[in-house]
Amino acid sequence: MKQLYISLIITALLYSCSNVQGNQTDATSTATPKATSGSLKAEVGETIKLNKPFENKATLMKALQNRKSTRSFANKPVNKQDLSNLLWAAAGVNRDNGGRTVPLLGDIAIYAAMKSGVYLYEAKNHELKKVLKDDIRAQISSQAPVKKAPVVFIMTIDDASFPGYMKKAMKEAHGMDFYYGNQVAYSTQNIYLYACANNMNAVVIGGFNRPKVDEILDLKSEHHSYLIQLVGYKKE
Ligand SMILES: Cc1cc2nc3c(=O)[nH]c(=O)nc-3n(C[C@H](O)[C@H](O)[C@H](O)COP(=O)(O)O)c2cc1C
Repeated sequence: MKQLYISLIITALLYSCSNVQGNQTDATSTATPKATSGSLKAEVGETIKLNKPFENKATLMKALQNRKSTRSFANKPVNKQDLSNLLWAAAGVNRDNGGRTVPLLGDIAIYAAMKSGVYLYEAKNHELKKVLKDDIRAQISSQAPVKKAPVVFIMTIDDASFPGYMKKAMKEAHGMDFYYGNQVAYSTQNIYLYACANNMNAVVIGGFNRPKVDEILDLKSEHHSYLIQLVGYKKE
């Protein structure tokens, strides 16, 4: 009987420890999660569940003070937790009604080009879908930092994501490019802020081969890339 009690107590202790670990990456946790290097391994067409965004000690004012463009990066991949946070900051869902971290009239489709291939961010489920197995970074731009950046975010807008009933008024008011450009800018600024507050470097790049990138990503005729953004850790 005594042995049974002891084994029950041990089982209960093990169970409570495993629960603590499981909660470490919860969005409400204020601690930096231990398991930050989850795998991004997937075949083309498969999706990878991203980590929940975690709170950290970086303040908005500190992020604004540190915000700048830097074009060099440590030669190491961005871990899954930081990648998850960057994408959530860029355009993640932050409300029960599906509202996002950035104001959107239509939608933004963000691709992440890395050594291991190209992935599409699916905000609704906070997932990354692998869309290409190749490393396309060297084909994106002639600017040298692009092929060395651990992550190249490609900000794209599909005209079809804008509400049809608004388009006539939008075209007459400012032209669609005005709205596309604005949508992209909010996401890139959020990425700058997260990166610059978390030991990472970032830069937006307008000088890239848009037709080539659109072709590689197999975008439809009214779906185009607008800006790319390089992100990686600071050099030690
Ligand atoms: C729309 C846009 C396009 C840009 N294109 C490039 C680019 O092609 N190459 C580059 O190195 N920097 C590019 N930049 C980054 C700017 O050079 C940088 O923001 C500017 O020098 C100010 O520096 P800061 O961001 O550190 O304040 C671009 C910035 C913007 C807003």
